[in-house]
Amino acid sequence: MHGKQKTNKIWGGRFTEDTDTFVSEFTASVGFDRRMYRQDITGSIAHARMLAKIGVLSEIDCAAIIQGLEEILIEIESGRFEWSVELEDVHMNIEARLIERVGDAGRRLHTGRSRNDQVATDMRLYLREAIDIIFSKLRCFQGILADMAACEAATVMPGFTHLQVAQPVTFGHHLLAWFEMLKRDSERLSDCRRRVNIMPLGAAALAGTSYPLDRVYTAQLLGFDAPTANSLDAVSDRDFAIEFTSVAAILLTHLSRMSEELVLWSSSQFNFIELPDRFCTGSSIMPQKKNPDVPELVRGKVGRVNGHLVSLLTLMKSQPLAYNKDNQEDKEPLFDTVDTVLGCLFAFIKMIPEIRLNRNVMLKMAQGGFSTATDLADYLVRKGLPFREAHEIVGKIISSLIEKKGNLLDMTLVELQRFSHLITIDVFSILSLENSLATRNVLGGTAPSRVREAAALAQSWVATNNVTMPV
Ligand code: ARG
Repeated sequence: MHGKQKTNKIWGGRFTEDTDTFVSEFTASVGFDRRMYRQDITGSIAHARMLAKIGVLSEIDCAAIIQGLEEILIEIESGRFEWSVELEDVHMNIEARLIERVGDAGRRLHTGRSRNDQVATDMRLYLREAIDIIFSKLRCFQGILADMAACEAATVMPGFTHLQVAQPVTFGHHLLAWFEMLKRDSERLSDCRRRVNIMPLGAAALAGTSYPLDRVYTAQLLGFDAPTANSLDAVSDRDFAIEFTSVAAILLTHLSRMSEELVLWSSSQFNFIELPDRFCTGSSIMPQKKNPDVPELVRGKVGRVNGHLVSLLTLMKSQPLAYNKDNQEDKEPLFDTVDTVLGCLFAFIKMIPEIRLNRNVMLKMAQGGFSTATDLADYLVRKGLPFREAHEIVGKIISSLIEKKGNLLDMTLVELQRFSHLITIDVFSILSLENSLATRNVLGGTAPSRVREAAALAQSWVATNNVTMPV
């Protein structure tokens, strides 16, 4: 017998002393990777089925393994499973329990497999599922925006550049700008899923295995599109996690921009919208405060996900082939990214349908700020002036209005004609917000009729889940 073995670890054969307690704790991942227990069990069942199919495992052992794993799943889900830090990670915890339950059959499960391909497979299964859930939440939010845009296709609000009133736009148009951002996020997410959905199992530790595994069969059982093409790459690269996190960072960047607008709009300076009380909190000292905590928090969460992206990039940087323990550090950033994205989407799905619009306030602000000055310049161009000259004349009108705190919409014909004799009575239809909006009728423009069309397209995109939107 090998009398020298001093440790009861699964891999303890060549060891002559027990692992230092600190090292066991420091290297353990079970505290966080146990969240992949379902994927680990599903992967093991598929692996066992494949081993039985190629005759490496007897049908009897295979059945015992599957039954044992299914019972372990119930143990875990009912909170009866005892997780052990000594057993390092989710994989060895489940395998050790399987051996406890079914004996030798359990000892045969790890044939032709390593934790290196096992963990990479679990991660991909986990992420694929997370992507599908995020995708459906995202679509739900897009649906809310598309429906709201259809209702608000003619609601006037000021459009801003440099946060200054620029030209009138419709609120529906603004909402559809948000929709477009999210549509690209959805597309990026489905594209990322294609590269996630490739199966590392069978790469074994790093070089493949001498057992005649049917990897295509295992891939089919697990719903993967294909097995990985290179075993070294399969166990070592985490670019799929980096890619997902970068997609998430862009998505959260978009949500942070929306959040910022909600914060601005709900402030008393803007007063465009009201957030329901139950989405806000008060101040412990200032009784008048109603703070838009939810959008502020979403705005802040992007920092966290950007951090995870940098963590994962740095984790991967300069790693030599093939598996290195560094890669155990991929999990917490990835899991937290998934949780954060889902939390933020959930917040928006709940909050956005509840915002109350102060349409009159929006309209008022759009009427100020000389928002139809460009329309007046275009009017003079149509009367024969070169655009630069028209721009100059309108600039002078605005300057005079600023001086006497006037509004372009209140000027009389006589006052206007002082600046150009080309201006006639028809100017008033040009200066109105309705006219300004209606004439922005180019494809992709803010005219209510265009917005109605765009909202309908957005709604059908949500309904059909097409990745490309018809123009
Ligand atoms: N817990 C490990 C991880 O997350 C599993 C793979 C360990 N493989 C190894 N050879 N130490 O990466």
